[in-house]
Amino acid sequence: MTPNSTPLLLCILIFSTGHSELLFNPDDNVQLLDFASFEYALSEPTSGKLVQFFNAFCEDSQQFVPAFRNVSRKLYKWRRVLKVHVLDCGKDENDKICGNYSIRKTPTLRYFPPSYKRVPEDLGIEITNRNPKEIESKLALNLQKLNYFKMFKPQDNVTHIFQNDEHVEYVVFVYQMCLNHFLPHLETGNSMEEKYASQGDCDEDNPIVSVIGRNTLLDLLPYKEVVVRIFDNHDIYNKFGISPVPNLLVVVNKARKLLFLTPEMDNSKAYVAAIKQFLIFVDRKPQQPLPKTAAANISEVLRYQIFEQLEQHPTRIYRADLERAINHILNVELSRASHFVGTKLVVLRNFVKLIYNSSPLKAEAQDKLAGLYYSLRAKKQLSGVGFKDLLLKSVKDYVFDGKQFIGCIATRPLLRGFNCSLWMLFHYLSVESKELKARSLLLVFLGYVRFFMNCRECDMKLGEFKKLRPIGNVSNNDEQILWLWEAHNYVNKLLAGDATEDPKFPKIQFPSELHCPNCRNNQSEWRTDEVLKYLKAMYALKNLSWFGMSASKSYSDIKRHVTTTYATSTL
Ligand SMILES: Cc1cc2nc3c(=O)[nH]c(=O)nc-3n(C[C@H](O)[C@H](O)[C@H](O)COP(=O)(O)OP(=O)(O)OC[C@H]3O[C@@H](n4cnc5c(N)ncnc54)[C@H](O)[C@@H]3O)c2cc1C
Ligand SMILES: *[C@@H]1O[C@H](CO)[C@@H](O)[C@H](O)[C@H]1NC(C)=O
Ligand SMILES: *[C@@H]1O[C@H](CO)[C@@H](O)[C@H](O)[C@H]1NC(C)=O
Ligand SMILES: *[C@@H]1O[C@H](CO)[C@@H](O)[C@H](O)[C@H]1NC(C)=O
Ligand SMILES: *[C@@H]1O[C@H](CO)[C@@H](O)[C@H](O)[C@H]1NC(C)=O
Ligand SMILES: *[C@@H]1O[C@H](CO)[C@@H](O)[C@H](O)[C@H]1NC(C)=O
Ligand SMILES: *[C@@H]1O[C@H](CO)[C@@H](O)[C@H](O)[C@H]1NC(C)=O
Ligand SMILES: *[C@@H]1O[C@H](CO)[C@@H](O)[C@H](O)[C@H]1NC(C)=O
Ligand SMILES: *[C@@H]1O[C@H](CO)[C@@H](O)[C@H](O)[C@H]1NC(C)=O
Repeated sequence: MTPNSTPLLLCILIFSTGHSELLFNPDDNVQLLDFASFEYALSEPTSGKLVQFFNAFCEDSQQFVPAFRNVSRKLYKWRRVLKVHVLDCGKDENDKICGNYSIRKTPTLRYFPPSYKRVPEDLGIEITNRNPKEIESKLALNLQKLNYFKMFKPQDNVTHIFQNDEHVEYVVFVYQMCLNHFLPHLETGNSMEEKYASQGDCDEDNPIVSVIGRNTLLDLLPYKEVVVRIFDNHDIYNKFGISPVPNLLVVVNKARKLLFLTPEMDNSKAYVAAIKQFLIFVDRKPQQPLPKTAAANISEVLRYQIFEQLEQHPTRIYRADLERAINHILNVELSRASHFVGTKLVVLRNFVKLIYNSSPLKAEAQDKLAGLYYSLRAKKQLSGVGFKDLLLKSVKDYVFDGKQFIGCIATRPLLRGFNCSLWMLFHYLSVESKELKARSLLLVFLGYVRFFMNCRECDMKLGEFKKLRPIGNVSNNDEQILWLWEAHNYVNKLLAGDATEDPKFPKIQFPSELHCPNCRNNQSEWRTDEVLKYLKAMYALKNLSWFGMSASKSYSDIKRHVTTTYATSTL
């Protein structure tokens, strides 16, 4: 190693450990908000706010990350008048607020004025463009309404400008004419800038048409010693004791001494250049640039956030896991089979029926799965290719929103994942398939493990348990839920400490005493009534977490299929 390589290595280390858990961070000029801080942050009285509503699990949001990071870093130059925020709509706890602000897709960009207070008719100003330049120009149009950009009037004075901000040493006055008032002077005016301005904006209340003053002001925001004030009234020149001259900038210092600058041209670029030259002369420098930061690695950030979520909510069940299970069963496990006939075909058909009736998928999926079920019902037997054809026809263009395992994430490859989600799916189905005949779900489960799981060991373990607890003894849905729970614990016990155990997710006799103290009596025996209550709450559809879904609750269509006409006889 050369001596020179050490500092470089250190820098990389600092970057990658500093904020590796965040997609956006304060060093990139972005403040992360949540449900608790959101409205308070927007009520801040002096700055405009740019807010990105995002969902880290949504691909559109992910794709926008680098561009938004560029935008926020660029906007650092305007931080005296603009704050940049993000709100993660993928988090359950932020769901209400994203719903309340009518966020229908992510990413969504909105501008909020200072002292914003939520009212139904004003949910912020949407910025639909994704081009950094366009975002900036849309923001400029809104920022120019801030008090900071208010016209300097003949009755105003500079005293309070210096008093209000101890850093301010120079006030620069820029004449910016209003077309409505000075149409005849057009030739002396700001032709470069005028094309950006809209005449409609120019009236008594909002006399900004030319944006030469606004742009000069925005460009000089990085100098905390400077305040730019815009005026559109020629009389102000009298106040300074001078007569109007084109291309004249008036600089007032703390001692109220006047200095005149004459830019080479009548546009904000030349104005800014002249003022910057002056500032170099008086040795004033712009604010420190942002530190260099490394772009976040999205997949690593997501992994970090998933583990963080599980730490905060260790007993939640995630839609994403159930979706992944269904997706994998349909498109991988079942699609691997070569021939469906007899009991195998019945199990297949009943599995499809089960998930179309009680699935946690979007309403759209239920129709598609129902279609698959009805085409399966017409078959006496089916080849593997035949099944794949049916699947392709009925559910091919369905988009599963759960792209990653959440509750079933593993600390290393080849653990958990699908096997974990399979258990969860069946527990969920046992709790949510209320209208089925007793045992029908267990028959599907046993059949699934026998025919499709491709694991003899698993089938044998289940066979052993079935001998201990004959399913003929299961006479209602509650007993069915408990049978599956007990079967799972039976397998857990056999596998505990095994090489297939993820140390971070040990195979315990579930639920733990910590998470359900009432589930055991003082002699450590199960209290099955309490266990049942616990399982029903945990696996209930309405209690599933949306975390990890690429579309979150606030902008999804979650109409449920009406199941009242469902006949139980065929299961
Ligand atoms: C019938 C069957 C037999 C199997 N046999 C084998 C085998 O022989 N060898 C092998 O390597 N793997 C076997 N597996 C897979 C194994 O059970 C696990 O699914 C896999 O090892 C992943 O374990 P996990 O730690 O993710 O937790 P899992 O056991 O998959 O559990 C997933 C989640 O369900 C919840 N949970 C745990 N216990 C219960 C419970 N009793 N009731 C309700 N919820 C619960 C927890 O939140 C847990 O994280 C079998 C699976 C099945 C379905
Ligand atoms: C972000 O900025 C860098 C440097 O200016 C540029 O190379 C890159 O293309 C930008 N990325 C996006 C997505 O805008
Ligand atoms: C949602 O909006 C209503 C007004 O429509 C408001 O009363 C309520 O407090 C808001 N809730 C949240 C969580 O923001
Ligand atoms: C300057 O303006 C402030 C308010 O803008 C006012 O209170 C103050 O009296 C003015 N001072 C002078 C000297 O005009
Ligand atoms: C992000 O991290 C993952 C896992 O650590 C790695 O495989 C991938 O190459 C990284 N991607 C980038 C763009 O660095
Ligand atoms: C949802 O599940 C969690 C545990 O996963 C539980 O603590 C909570 O009580 C459940 N909520 C409801 C409304 O049942
Ligand atoms: C899932 O279980 C099957 C059967 O036991 C096994 O072959 C496979 O390796 C397991 N996969 C994972 C990711 O644990
Ligand atoms: C099955 O149920 C009967 C009657 O409820 C009971 O006597 C029997 O012990 C049960 N068998 C098993 C193995 O649990
Ligand atoms: C457990 O024991 C404590 C006293 O040791 C008693 O107060 C409590 O009622 C007992 N609980 C149960 C469920 O038996």
